[in-house]
Parts: sequence; C-alpha cells; structure tokens
Amino acid sequence: MHAIGQTPRPLDLRAAARALRPTLDADPALRGAAIATWRQRMINEYGSAAVFAGLAGQFADVGASAEEVDAVAAMADEEQRHGVLCGAVVEALGGRAVGGLPPAEALPRHPEADPLEALARNLLSVGCLSETVAVALISAEREQMGPGPLRDILTEILADEVGHARLGWRWIARHAPVFDAAARSRLGDYLTVAFAHLEAHELRFLPVGPALPDGAAQLGLCHGSEARALFRATVESVIVPRLESHGLPARRAWRGRAAA
Ligand SMILES: [Fe+2]
Ligand SMILES: [Fe+2]
Repeated sequence: MHAIGQTPRPLDLRAAARALRPTLDADPALRGAAIATWRQRMINEYGSAAVFAGLAGQFADVGASAEEVDAVAAMADEEQRHGVLCGAVVEALGGRAVGGLPPAEALPRHPEADPLEALARNLLSVGCLSETVAVALISAEREQMGPGPLRDILTEILADEVGHARLGWRWIARHAPVFDAAARSRLGDYLTVAFAHLEAHELRFLPVGPALPDGAAQLGLCHGSEARALFRATVESVIVPRLESHGLPARRAWRGRAAA
C-alpha cells in the first residue's frame, strides 16, 4: 500500500467505546501493556475500514452486483466496529480510546493492470494474506483466553475476519481459472511485493520481548516469538499451498520476498 500524506489523523472513539465498555478485572501490573496493545489494535482495526471502502469501489468498477458491492462496503463498517470494541477494552482498562490514525493509506489502484487483475491483486493482499493471518493470530489468542468479556469480543471480531478472508479466497477460486499463464505470472510478481509488505507489517506489530507473566494471555497480550512462528506457519502451510492450488506461483513469491 502506498502511504499518502504524513500527518496522523486524530481518532477519538471515546463516546462509542464507553457505551460498550466491558467489566474487566485486570492485574494492575499488566494494565499499561494491555492498554497499549488494545489501543494499537483499535487504530489498526479502525484504519482498515478504508481498505474495504476502496475494495467496494473496485468491485463496482468491474461490474459486480449491487449486493456484492454492499456486502464489501459492510465490511468497512465491521472494521470500524472492531475499532470501537478494541477502544471499549482500552476504556475498561482505564485508558482513553483516542489515538492517531496513520497517514491515509489508499488501496492501490494498480493502473498498469486491467480492472479485474487490479482487483485480484488487492483481494490477494487483503483477503488471502492479511485477513487470513489475522484469523490465525486472533484464533490462537482467543484459544489461550479463558471465558469472559474479552473472549466474547475476540469471538465477534474473529467471525467477521473469517468473512473478510473468505471474500478473497472465494473470489480467487472463482476467477483464477480466468487468468492466463502470463496474468498468473504477473500476479506471482505482485505476490512477492505483497508478501514482503505483509511480513514487514506483522513483524512490526509482533515485537519479541521478555517472557510474559501469568495473566497476560487473559488480557490478550501475546508472546511475540510465538505469534511470529504462527504467522510464518500460516503463510507456509496454509496461504502458499492454497494459492498454488489455484495456479498462482506463491511459493516462488514467498521465497523471493526479500528481494522485493
Ligand atoms: Fe477487523
Ligand atoms: Fe478484517
């Protein structure tokens, strides 16, 4: 994705977040780390609404039905709600659901590709890569959490992320056979860049730190090195083989990402 502009946009979700604030019993020693984690999630989730708004426009451009376009636009609303839910956790922990959205990230239009191939690129990047990794990471985090309001929030978010990943996989399954060998090769070249971008993004948000104390998993704090291992396993065992099964040269793309 290409960053446009330099200044973070202020984000203030306090009113909406306070209305959804869960009751939490958090270890005071972990409160600061938990607030920082959930605030970053709030920003990432809310910011990804723009991605689905852009995708909805791209679906319209290739002549998708109004129902299809509306379904994708609804995913933008879901990302905003995820942002509010994460903000509700920030507020419940005693923090403030405010932050700065990074400079607006427009979904790339890929003007050098035809509209169908441009849409394929973005659905690969968003649905088959980012959202599929999100499903794996959130599932693992949710598994490690006992019952309670935080787990309920992750359950709601996870259900939507599964839908966002499926949007990409379903479309690729339906349209990959339409692309000829040259187009598949070009999509492979694009995947090299998309994998490099994905890895840089995930590693940035999964820092490896000291071992976490008891109770951390209960607050959604994940161990960076475990999460990084899960990220790589998801790419290598799920995403790459599945893309290859659709005739896309994903193994070559993943291996070549360092050169991208
Ligand atoms: Fe989300
Ligand atoms: Fe999502």
